[in-house]
Amino acid sequence: MAESDLGRAADAERMRGYFAVQLLLAARVAELRGLPLGDAALSVTNLHRRFGLGRPEQGAAPAWADYAERLQGLASAEQRLDWTVGFFAARPPEAPPEGHVRFGCFSFEPPDADGAVRIHFNNRDSADGIGPLASAKRPARLAELSDMFACLRRDYPSARTVNGGSWLYNLDAYQRLFPPEYAASRSRPERLRLTGTSSWGQFLDHRGEVKAPVRQAFIDNLDGLDPLAPWRAFPLHALTARAPVERFYDFYGRERS
Ligand SMILES: CC(C)(COP(=O)(O)OP(=O)(O)OC[C@H]1O[C@@H](n2cnc3c(N)ncnc32)[C@H](O)[C@@H]1OP(=O)(O)O)[C@@H](O)C(=O)NCCC(=O)NCCS
Repeated sequence: MAESDLGRAADAERMRGYFAVQLLLAARVAELRGLPLGDAALSVTNLHRRFGLGRPEQGAAPAWADYAERLQGLASAEQRLDWTVGFFAARPPEAPPEGHVRFGCFSFEPPDADGAVRIHFNNRDSADGIGPLASAKRPARLAELSDMFACLRRDYPSARTVNGGSWLYNLDAYQRLFPPEYAASRSRPERLRLTGTSSWGQFLDHRGEVKAPVRQAFIDNLDGLDPLAPWRAFPLHALTARAPVERFYDFYGRERS
């Protein structure tokens, strides 16, 4: 096996627990709604994206059918998990989302026609064993945000508002990185999409391992699952936040001086 294949196989093994919990929800939704398991997995897991097939909202990529067909033919949860881990291992690595501009752990999508900018977070700073949101790393995160908003101000004059949506907005460790007005704007959307990381990310710790207490709380909620509102089974409900971009320019300008 080539070295890159070995690395990919190891990555797939690290994802096993994360995939397992997602397949649990898919199986429960499939059971309660009478759906094929592949269809449920497409709508309530982020597997389509983790397989590098992009966003599934416009319909599944052709390769998904190969995954889903075999998934549905397997008898046990263990076999389905093995198949999922193996399918991931055989896929090329996921490409970074098109058009996103990255600064360390943060990235943004350039302004849309209304000047709305969407920001994202991904863990890219834990090789030292310390989580990226630890208070010791707040200066590093603020420096990334400061650079990001300096770039936005310089290169994207049409930017008007900043929007985010994630489970992370429940955490003080995340809120303290943003202007108070943005953190104070947090609200709880009625419906959530489960095809990305905005809810699923809460299962992972900074080592990429599944957090056992979060998994247990989620499993406990599956018994009473409302299959039309499966996001309610997540211990933390993803929140949205929004504020004018000037608040960010002021806030990081002050943080810099
Ligand atoms: C974000 C991420 C690195 C956090 O992992 P972690 O191991 O909890 O990281 P940290 O050690 O930096 O902890 C962050 C803080 O959040 C708190 N926290 C994390 N998960 C929590 C939870 N489920 N409930 C309450 N607090 C939580 C921790 O206690 C810590 O707070 P403290 O510093 O005040 O004690 C990890 O979940 C991850 O990589 N997720 C995937 C990426 C993601 O979700 N992106 C969002 C896309 S929209």
